[in-house]
Amino acid sequence: MQRLGVCKGERGKMKFAQFLLKNNFVAGIPKQVDRFSKFSPSPLSMKQFIDFGSANACEKTSFVFLRQELPVRLANIMKEIDFLPDKLLGTPSLRLLTSWYSQSLLELIDFLEKDPDDKDVLKNFTQTLVNIRNRHNNVVPTMAQGVVEYKEAFGVDPVTNQNVQYFLDRFYMSRISTRMLMNQHTLIFDGSVNPAHPKHIGSIDPTCDVVEVIKDAYETSKMLCEQYYLTSPDMKITEVNSKIPGQPIQIVYVPSHLYHMLFELFKNAMRATVEMHETSTTLPLIKVRVSLGTEDLTIKMSDRGGGVPLRKIERLFSYMYSTAPSPVRVDNGRNAPLAGFGYGLPISRLYAKYFQGDLQLYSMEGYGTSAVIYLKALSSESVERLPVFNKSALRHYQSTTEADDWCMPSKDPKKLGRYETSG
Ligand SMILES: Nc1ncnc2c1ncn2[C@@H]1O[C@H](COP(=O)(O)OP(=O)(O)OP(=O)(O)O)[C@@H](O)[C@H]1O
Ligand SMILES: [Mg+2]
Repeated sequence: MQRLGVCKGERGKMKFAQFLLKNNFVAGIPKQVDRFSKFSPSPLSMKQFIDFGSANACEKTSFVFLRQELPVRLANIMKEIDFLPDKLLGTPSLRLLTSWYSQSLLELIDFLEKDPDDKDVLKNFTQTLVNIRNRHNNVVPTMAQGVVEYKEAFGVDPVTNQNVQYFLDRFYMSRISTRMLMNQHTLIFDGSVNPAHPKHIGSIDPTCDVVEVIKDAYETSKMLCEQYYLTSPDMKITEVNSKIPGQPIQIVYVPSHLYHMLFELFKNAMRATVEMHETSTTLPLIKVRVSLGTEDLTIKMSDRGGGVPLRKIERLFSYMYSTAPSPVRVDNGRNAPLAGFGYGLPISRLYAKYFQGDLQLYSMEGYGTSAVIYLKALSSESVERLPVFNKSALRHYQSTTEADDWCMPSKDPKKLGRYETSG
């Protein structure tokens, strides 16, 4: 076994923690988690995000905010990770993933004592954020793999499905939020302007042209669809701007988030359309309607891909009941571009919910499906939606199997004995 030297000070503590992590000595989560999970995360509004990146933006202010806020968000979700079933926590994927979270937390905490007026500190901080972002690049497939490993070993029951669903929605939402914070800081303070999008503030476009993003997402999905099926459906967009009639619809938004949702919806709509009309010579259009009201910006995408029965709709958003084979196992996902982990819908819904929107699916079995994205029309209402670890959250992990409080319909009609009507 490797001998441990005596290391003094913060650097030594860090090295020691890294050594423990590398050698799997840390079974749970570091004790610093308790110190930061006592605080609730502070949701930012779109306006605050923009202020951080405005002309008089201050790197020091952003640094001081993030060195506290990022550990708080990480610690809150690490508390929830710790409440997952032991069998899931024990999978190799989850052990790897928790070690990433522990290491990133410790790296961030290291900056609490540092001087915000020191330029080198600010530079190191930005580099640390880049390292953390890269370390966490594969969190989604790693977590998904952990769920697959758990499912293969122990099966799925409704209670575990419900708990895992609750946790993963919060876990992925927390990840979206921490990546948003890290992206904003690194993009705004790296000293350069994005030449393709000089008006963007970090990843935010203050005049995001919704129809442009729809067209981009459609084109990429169409390319994949043609590679795989050798054909693809056309699209028709209808725009209704009730605020400024006749003008293009624009909102303050993160175009990459909107693109992600639309790309996932287009892939699904195209797959369903092509597979439903395999034998026909023409494919029905995918219709997209965009409408801007005073409160909502709504995007409805309708296909004629045969639809899904109502009974199955909820399951399409489930991480555990996803039917798609694991792309890691199959072929690294390269040959099946239109279907992967089955996470397209649930993750897209999180992106919509992140700034107080939503994503819903309405289907007519035998005909087709409409997917609807709701976003806030006003940037003042686009505020981060963040999970917080507290007693109510804890209750979700402690629930056990309870009897259903609705009657189950029996297969055979009950015999009503001698009072039965004989027709
Ligand atoms: N427009 C649609 N029409 C018919 N079925 C759909 C439609 N959208 C989704 N589905 C069904 O819902 C399932 C889940 O969709 P989801 O996008 O979450 O995962 P996926 O497409 O299977 O994989 P991934 O999106 O991760 O590559 C799909 O496999 C498909 O069976
Ligand atoms: Mg999909």
